[in-house]
Amino acid sequence: MRVDVVSIFPDYLAPLELSLVGKARRTGLLDLRVHDLRDWATDRHRTVDDTPFGGGAGMVMRPDVWGRALDDVLGDADDGPVRLVIPTPSGEVFTQRTAEAWAQDERLVIACGRYEGIDARVAERYRERGVAVSEVSIGDYVLNGGEVAALVVVEAVGRLLPGVVGNPESLVEESHGAAGLLEYPVYTKPPAWEGLEVPEALLSGHHARIARWRRDRALERTAARRPDLLDALAADTLDAHDREV
Ligand code: ADE
Repeated sequence: MRVDVVSIFPDYLAPLELSLVGKARRTGLLDLRVHDLRDWATDRHRTVDDTPFGGGAGMVMRPDVWGRALDDVLGDADDGPVRLVIPTPSGEVFTQRTAEAWAQDERLVIACGRYEGIDARVAERYRERGVAVSEVSIGDYVLNGGEVAALVVVEAVGRLLPGVVGNPESLVEESHGAAGLLEYPVYTKPPAWEGLEVPEALLSGHHARIARWRRDRALERTAARRPDLLDALAADTLDAHDREV
């Protein structure tokens, strides 16, 4: 997969050289390119923003600068399908389902806005040109710009690409996975630490018992922390035992 990130703070994306995503870049599973938006500014000060029409506080990013940048980075339509991702607190919520869908894409271009955001005509223009444009929020809080959201998107999507996570089974039982529940608590050695014991069921070696214990804890956790996820589960995915937990 190829991912381009356009930002006025390219250094913000430096962590993408680390860990599994960094390794995926070095082994060629992920072709990640970071661009400085100011390279497409034309004045001496390399200006990328201006005051908002209609008044109000803050600055808005200019569509002409973004247009030149995105025309170059998106390239010709012949390069194959590409998704333009615009992180914004006013977007649709980015979830594990979004990450799964985008992991099937060939190319993502992530346009990181700053200040009060990017002139709305930018998303409109590329939509009109047939580009899949996704304006997404990573949660109900406001960041100073799209860079942290870009890190989130690249890591969430990148780890789903075949070969990036060493053991693909570790993707199966995690939170927000197929079961629709938060993940159960996990333990490792030593079996007793600071007077706290690993739950006996996990030491039993009895697979069915371990599976039941884990599902019960996942249900309890989800009910306590994310009741909205339980409500969204189809009624027929819960068995009689589940309902008692
Ligand atoms: N930019 C600023 N806040 C954001 C958020 N919550 N999600 C995505 N992009 C943002």
